[in-house]
Amino acid sequence: MAIPQTRRQFLQAVGVTGGAGVLYSTMGALGLAPAHASPPFRAPRESDFTLTGRAHRSVLILGAGIAGLATAYELRKAGYKVRILEARKRPGGRNWTVRGGTVETDLDGHTQRARYAKGQYLNAGPARIAQHMVTLDYCRELGVPIEMFGNQNADGYYYNEGVGALSATPIRHRTAKADVYGYVSELLAKATDQGALDGQLTSDDKERLLAFLRNFGSIGGRADGWKYTGSTRRGYLVDPGAGTEAGTPNLPPYALSDVLASGVGQYFSFEFGWDQAMLMFQPVGGMDRIAYALEDAVGGERITYGAEVRSITDKGSGVEVVYTGPGGRLSVASADFCVCTIPPQVLVKIPSNLTPAVKDALAYAQPVSTGKIGLQYGRRWWEEDDKIYSGITNTNLDLSTIWYPSYGYHGAKGIVVGYYNFGGNADAYSALTPAERQARAIEQGVKIHGEKYRTELETAFSVAWRRTRYSEGGWVSWPSRTSGHYGRLLEPDGNVYFAGDHLSYYIAWQAGAFESARKVVTDLHTRVLSS
Ligand code: FAD
Ligand code: ALA
Repeated sequence: MAIPQTRRQFLQAVGVTGGAGVLYSTMGALGLAPAHASPPFRAPRESDFTLTGRAHRSVLILGAGIAGLATAYELRKAGYKVRILEARKRPGGRNWTVRGGTVETDLDGHTQRARYAKGQYLNAGPARIAQHMVTLDYCRELGVPIEMFGNQNADGYYYNEGVGALSATPIRHRTAKADVYGYVSELLAKATDQGALDGQLTSDDKERLLAFLRNFGSIGGRADGWKYTGSTRRGYLVDPGAGTEAGTPNLPPYALSDVLASGVGQYFSFEFGWDQAMLMFQPVGGMDRIAYALEDAVGGERITYGAEVRSITDKGSGVEVVYTGPGGRLSVASADFCVCTIPPQVLVKIPSNLTPAVKDALAYAQPVSTGKIGLQYGRRWWEEDDKIYSGITNTNLDLSTIWYPSYGYHGAKGIVVGYYNFGGNADAYSALTPAERQARAIEQGVKIHGEKYRTELETAFSVAWRRTRYSEGGWVSWPSRTSGHYGRLLEPDGNVYFAGDHLSYYIAWQAGAFESARKVVTDLHTRVLSS
């Protein structure tokens, strides 16, 4: 899979791979797909039972990721008897924050122990939340404090290799934008003024467009031939200062042809995206604050950790689940209903009496590879030397992106995400040992940030999601949402319901897991109340 340099490529990596889902929602945001309005969620209430004289029912939830926890949390509002079986020893599933002391052994037998300093962490899975996502509503409801996440930074870099004269040149976002906007404005202004758009524009429209382009691209006027000659938007070689220090602007601009060849403009659309546009947010202290807040709200005594589900049997009158308890002993749990949030590529391998159509649907979901490495440095050189406070550097290297932390500013240390990549790039890193991944990420990062990227590194921890037990993928893609497979999992199979981000149009977002949980809770509660 191509490195996601642009919003379109990112969508290919995320959602497209997530099937029509993300694309469809993006199209919706662009007004290209019909708006869909589901009724607002109404959480089940205790009074729904007391007023109708019905008895509480029991629900066994498989998986304590966001979908499982949210299902339990919402059902508890009406007093359902819930129990969660979770294979891992912590809540959150893919919502995973790696801190000093975290130990993980992957499916290839690589064991890593995070040696991060106190207060430092890597959000190995989810890291950013858009303002419109229901995830923030849960943060509010659960009292999880949030802070800004820098998803875009004018002082981050673009770095591409093999792209003409600007190859292997770290270019600040602000510089790239000044030149691309400037040249595009110059060209469009010339074409407009020379009458090329007369068929489309009235003379008033032309003047308005020209005024816009002068401002947008910081170009000269008619008398200057609409020329783009660069501006202080590109930044300074010597910053303005006191007294007579007016600063030395970073001029002249790169040549038009070199700018076009460099491909930097291909990155800009990412930040226009409905789900990626600033402002974005993160929980203070790590994404897993959400998972732990849900665990608290559900009640830890209702969650059995280290319980790996081994079989699922719908008995008609209820559901029976065999799982491994402490010491690998097999135990059985049963309930009236089951909500299964185990990722499809994992669930499909668990023995069950689910119907063949359900099993086919699970097998139809295609797991997507993605990986991250968190590099801890003893000095926040990106702030001190590069003046970068959070945000992302985009590259066409196999590391894809480098992220600078959105917490701990001016602290003694910090964790830089040395790669966050997808598809083939993620597979390439995943095939390496953790030490080899670190070496490769450093080799690449040095090209942008110089030798300090190697010499000031203290410790690293990497995650290859396709090879992570109980996940086996970052998320899934649906080759089609209309083949019947996706739709099959939206309905219960007897007494077994399915939930997770894969059953939403928000694949690869916690919001999808929350929304899916809400849907299943509504469906199940409606059934209980009407039975
Ligand atoms: P999961 O979290 O996968 O939960 C399933 C649970 O089932 C897990 O806890 C698992 O341990 C458990 N399980 C599996 N097998 C068994 C078994 N046999 N027995 C018992 N339990 C089992 N979302 C955002 O909002 N923002 C982001 O920036 C973002 N970035 C991401 C980056 C990466 C690299 C990844 C991987 C994900 C990202 N996401 C992001 C997506 C987000 O993590 C998911 O959408 C969400 O966490 C999915 O929750 P879930 O409950 O559906 O699934
Ligand atoms: N939603 C995930 C992200 O933004 C894939 O990185």
